[in-house]
Amino acid sequence: MSDFEGLKALVTGGASGIGRATAELLAARGAEVAVLDLDPSSVDKPLLAHRADVTDDASVRAALSAAVTDLGGLDVLINNAGIGAQGTVEDNDDEQWWRVLDVNVLGMVRTTRAALPHLRESAHAAIVNTCSIAATAGLPQRALYSASKGAVLSLTLAMAADHVREGIRVNCVNPGTVDTPWVARLLDAAPDPAAERAALQARQPAGRLVTAAEVAGAIAYLASPLSGSTTGTALAVDGGMQGL
Ligand code: NAI
Repeated sequence: MSDFEGLKALVTGGASGIGRATAELLAARGAEVAVLDLDPSSVDKPLLAHRADVTDDASVRAALSAAVTDLGGLDVLINNAGIGAQGTVEDNDDEQWWRVLDVNVLGMVRTTRAALPHLRESAHAAIVNTCSIAATAGLPQRALYSASKGAVLSLTLAMAADHVREGIRVNCVNPGTVDTPWVARLLDAAPDPAAERAALQARQPAGRLVTAAEVAGAIAYLASPLSGSTTGTALAVDGGMQGL
């Protein structure tokens, strides 16, 4: 498929996991792709790499501007950078709350703010936010993370409404548990990694973890001109967690 031929895309958190799979898929389908990440050292050609911290507005603006210059424009923004948190409301202090909200919610606001003037110039402008099934399902031990992704879902809907008349579509994907380096770190830290993996698999009716490639495929659909009439939606990629 070459449905991204001629399109320019930027993927935040594109050095690892879902972001990396998405950047590689968009490039394979013809896009020119830049990755914006805290640590882009592992990113190879044909992907372009820019270092930035989404919690730092000046760093986001500088990296986004450099990426747009390299790409020669911007059609697609994938707001994917995010971090996790475990626990109930009693387990995370204010500092942890502000930190996760800063990365997961304000991070998307900063990149979107910097990207909008460029997206307005595109005939195929699309933003896809990586949300989570945690935004719509009550998951135990994920109070802070779920609140951050709930905000991402609402932000997606509000942005879709604000920019629909400008021809900019905004959607999000809601993955279940995805087999990425993030989940590998979570399992490594668990007292019994095999039992933890089994519990995560059991949470999804399909009985297995989602793959990064499956989430990338959903993001690519929402980013591509093929979904030109789709805006303000959340696409679940969760092995049936939400619907079954
Ligand atoms: P990952 O940890 O493999 O990759 C995240 C990437 O984001 C890394 O390359 C990291 O350097 C980058 N990043 C983190 N903080 C950053 C910052 N302040 N500025 C710039 N870059 C930063 O994680 P994964 O699993 O690929 O997650 C990606 C997104 O998918 C996140 O938004 C996460 O909330 C979401 N998600 C993940 C699920 C999972 O089970 N893995 C499930 C549902 C959603």
